[in-house]
Amino acid sequence: MGAAREHWGSRFGFIMAAAGSAVGLGNVWRFPYTTGTNGGAAFLLIYLALIIGFGFALAIAEMLVGRSAQRNPVGAFRALGGRGWPVVGYLGITTGFVILSFYAVVAGWTLAYIVMMISGNLGTTDPEALNQIFGGFVSDPVRPVLYSAVFMALTGWIVIGGISHGIERWNKVLMPALFVILLVLVVRSLSLPGASAGVDFYLKPDFSKVTSQTFYDAIAQAFFSLSIGMGTLLTYGSYLSKDEHLPKAALTVVLIDSGVAILAGLMILPAVFAFGFNPSAGPGLTFVTLPAVFASMPGGVFFGVLFFALLAIAALTSAVSILEPMISYFVDEHGTSRHRAVIVAGLVCFGLSVPASLSFGPAADVTIAGKNWFDLMDFLANNVMLPLGGLLTAIFVGWIWKAAENELRNDGRLHLPWVPAWHLVLRFLAPIGILWIMASALLF
Ligand code: PHE
Repeated sequence: MGAAREHWGSRFGFIMAAAGSAVGLGNVWRFPYTTGTNGGAAFLLIYLALIIGFGFALAIAEMLVGRSAQRNPVGAFRALGGRGWPVVGYLGITTGFVILSFYAVVAGWTLAYIVMMISGNLGTTDPEALNQIFGGFVSDPVRPVLYSAVFMALTGWIVIGGISHGIERWNKVLMPALFVILLVLVVRSLSLPGASAGVDFYLKPDFSKVTSQTFYDAIAQAFFSLSIGMGTLLTYGSYLSKDEHLPKAALTVVLIDSGVAILAGLMILPAVFAFGFNPSAGPGLTFVTLPAVFASMPGGVFFGVLFFALLAIAALTSAVSILEPMISYFVDEHGTSRHRAVIVAGLVCFGLSVPASLSFGPAADVTIAGKNWFDLMDFLANNVMLPLGGLLTAIFVGWIWKAAENELRNDGRLHLPWVPAWHLVLRFLAPIGILWIMASALLF
């Protein structure tokens, strides 16, 4: 079909791009507070068990479908599965729009906070005052919307550059920068007097907080964080050449993703405890509690700017990967130019982000099933669409696509003794596990 498909320039570039997708607001903004309110290390253990149990297997499966088909999610499921299966691709494309609609909002806040940090507007140690600053900002009908627009424009600009000259080039610069900033901040946080109370809180398991809801939260977090279930890894895999050795790349990405999530907790919670702030602030932990922490420490503006830059980078490289599947769909299936596809899809995503942003202000009372637009999109994507996409992908690779094992072994050339085990996970453990977790949380 059409011109030859673009490919990653290097294996390192692919790994940085896939890690850039995985490491996002899910790791730095959501993970620490979810862990903090869900029993600390108890949640962490369940989360890691799910990732080892089937997150990793699913990540390989998705990349493999893309690498074999060399197409976007819809085209890939059509090519390998035939009639009916493109539905999984369409579900993924739709999920991309849903995720970006709220992702762009929080990402916009991170840009705004860089500016506010530099201009000294956050220079108080009083959480109450910071709460009002945060509330005042997010409920403003104009400013956060403009920041989301800037964020979407940056995202679109990178994606327009294409695979090796846009996505890969930027990830190769931004991801190493993110790792350096993260390490600097973890060291700063752990070296504060009183930091160990935060480490205890973070790492001491409290199993009394574990319910079926905890498992559900953990699986939603695992899928969201690993970018599983919407065709992102599939699309990134489709830009790999057929000879690439997948399992190692997938393992590297999974390790980076879990490592960054754990480090993000170690960056945030010790500092919060060191200055005696409340760790269970929920989603506001990052935007309310942390500015107070920065205002309390010497050199706080510097570290604060670094922190919000880290968040913005994490968000940007993920947003790029949420946009790319739909772009590759329009380019492959409809012959749209990349340029045009990015501009139209980017504008639609921005349009959908406006009501999500207004959910914190004028549209706060507009609710569907008790949820405002932001919460509804968040819930649909994390708790329904991604697990469903993951479930269908597992069934597809486990049961429908007969060539899967052979393809993973690169036409049978590689001797990988664990491949049958991987296949069994996709056939039984993953589908049953996902269904059981969803059913028990929804029904009981
Ligand atoms: N993994 C990203 C994060 O943790 C979000 C994401 C979800 C990216 C789905 C791509 C696909 O923030």
